[in-house]
Amino acid sequence: MLSEEKVYLNGELLLHGEAKVSVEDRGFNFADGIYEVVRIVAGRPFRVESHLDRLEGGARALEIDLPASREKVDAAIRSVAAANKVTEGTVYIQLTRGVAPRSHPFPKGAKPTLVMLARPSAGPGEGNLENGVSIVTAPDLRWGYCDVKTIGLLPNVIALQRARVEGCFEAVMVRDGFVTEGSHSSTFCVRGGAVSTYPIDNILPGITRKFLMDALRAEGVEVHEAAVSLEDYRTADELLLTGTTTEVMPVVRVDGETVGSGIPGEITRLGQELQRRALEAFRKGGTS
Ligand code: PDD
Repeated sequence: MLSEEKVYLNGELLLHGEAKVSVEDRGFNFADGIYEVVRIVAGRPFRVESHLDRLEGGARALEIDLPASREKVDAAIRSVAAANKVTEGTVYIQLTRGVAPRSHPFPKGAKPTLVMLARPSAGPGEGNLENGVSIVTAPDLRWGYCDVKTIGLLPNVIALQRARVEGCFEAVMVRDGFVTEGSHSSTFCVRGGAVSTYPIDNILPGITRKFLMDALRAEGVEVHEAAVSLEDYRTADELLLTGTTTEVMPVVRVDGETVGSGIPGEITRLGQELQRRALEAFRKGGTS
């Protein structure tokens, strides 16, 4: 499988085994780069404009020049998916500052490295979406640029590993007593019919998070961008996660305690239905 897989590397589609990056790529040495995960639905990238906006914004924030125009990045996403016959899956995009002798300051004249991989994916699991998942909370060990989707994910990796050791789906992170976001997802809680999610203050501006906030508001649901304490989070009526690969995921246990009545709640179900409708419209040829 891997031997036939095609990888996009700096403007070319190469066989996986032939796509090589230097040992002095700054992504490898310094985690000096950013990434995106775009979902492929019916062969087309879903919510691609938002992903391109975030990629461009992250590149600007870190002063990395995108080596291709927005149109070319968009075309490359589609071509790497098509070359691998991925109709349902993801495209992983990684942009680094490029190759230069190891030295901390930004190198002059380094050519950024742009890589894309397309993989089929079965999504987060029908059973999980139907029945809900268990999660743990973990300290948010990250830094001050969490709004940029950098490849420096070790704190997220450590948090998720903690969850997996306990047989849980996700770890949500806690900073100064407030729940920020998951290791690879955003999180919402519902209390007394109102929905809250941490404000964009040193967390990732999740694309699915934004979709759900807007879609729930359009249905008349009260949605706040407000910090929720760990105590309020653990005793919420409903908890849910959102993300490109996580979809709208009910949470039924947190730190071993049952959430609400122990089954996915009404607002979570509404959120799932709104996401399902958005996907269906996209499958019928709509833009996202
Ligand atoms: N993760 N928060 C974090 C820390 C994330 O890494 C992600 C996405 C999200 C959800 O964002 P979005 O709805 O735009 O996918 C929130 C990707 C999928 C990953 O790392 O695989």
